[in-house]
Amino acid sequence: MTLYNLKGRHLVWLVDYTREDILHIIETGIMFKRRYYAGERVIPVLSGRTIAMIFEKPSTRTRVSFDVAAWQLGAKAISLSWNELQLGRGETIGDTARTLSRYVDGIVARVREHGKIVELSRYSRVPVINGLSDLVHPVQALGDYMTIMEKKGRIEGLKIVFVGDGTDNVLHSLLLAGSKLGAHLVVASPRELRPSKEILDHALEAARDTGGTIEIVDNPEDAVAGADIIYTDVWVSMGQEAIAEKKIELLKQYQVNSRLMEKAGSRALFMHCLPAKRGQEVTDDVIDGPQSIVWDQAENRLHVQKAILALLIP
Ligand code: CP
Ligand code: NVA
Repeated sequence: MTLYNLKGRHLVWLVDYTREDILHIIETGIMFKRRYYAGERVIPVLSGRTIAMIFEKPSTRTRVSFDVAAWQLGAKAISLSWNELQLGRGETIGDTARTLSRYVDGIVARVREHGKIVELSRYSRVPVINGLSDLVHPVQALGDYMTIMEKKGRIEGLKIVFVGDGTDNVLHSLLLAGSKLGAHLVVASPRELRPSKEILDHALEAARDTGGTIEIVDNPEDAVAGADIIYTDVWVSMGQEAIAEKKIELLKQYQVNSRLMEKAGSRALFMHCLPAKRGQEVTDDVIDGPQSIVWDQAENRLHVQKAILALLIP
């Protein structure tokens, strides 16, 4: 199997990845999935390698899918919580990165503040992969675009509408990757909760080269017409508990329910990175309904992360 050019790279927020890099990861994910279902459970391209996974926040999908992905590539993953490392007692991120990279071949980390991932990648001599920060969730977006590719056969030119919290980390990654892939991205969010300017600037610049577009609007009902994908995420992300009440109040008109899906039309598929707060950002009938692809989306985290590990880990 030939895997080109990404060896040794960090995956921090995808701004430094080209359209071709992203498509290569997606296509490699699809290949791993196909081979898995053809009976090749283990493809040991990373045999003998070790991956450290550091979690500063809870995780179901990221933790388990990276652990299984490593196993299916012949590597071993070690899952660690921030506070059980000396990090919790004040050892610096730099010293931790320098030490871990003498033991392991790659580091996956989920952190509260994005700067911590940047700091890890600065001092690590093995690839650092962002498993979610407050700013972005790049491995989620890669899995999601793999899912869209599978379901729709393309990404370029599709209308992808995110309804809800415009400051959301998953949305930021969907914007960064989707703009490179030529998607038409629409964000329906309240004015008080708009995407980060830094992220938007990067996404707009990428869209100029690919024919993609980015539109930010107030009204979800107008936004969803003719959509290929309707995407939402929780209104209160991990770490935002103190502002929960205010966000819920701002977002109450932004629920994805059957009325909104009807306005979107039958072509629209429903996506959510999960975990969902059922009854808040999405109703049961939508997430469990015929247009929902959330379980395929969750599964694809495994296959796309095999691609990421196989391509990046030397
Ligand atoms: N979507 C996602 O990253 O889920 P977890 O928080 O369970 O890892
Ligand atoms: N926006 C959510 C995503 C969880 C995968 C959060 O940060 O909590």
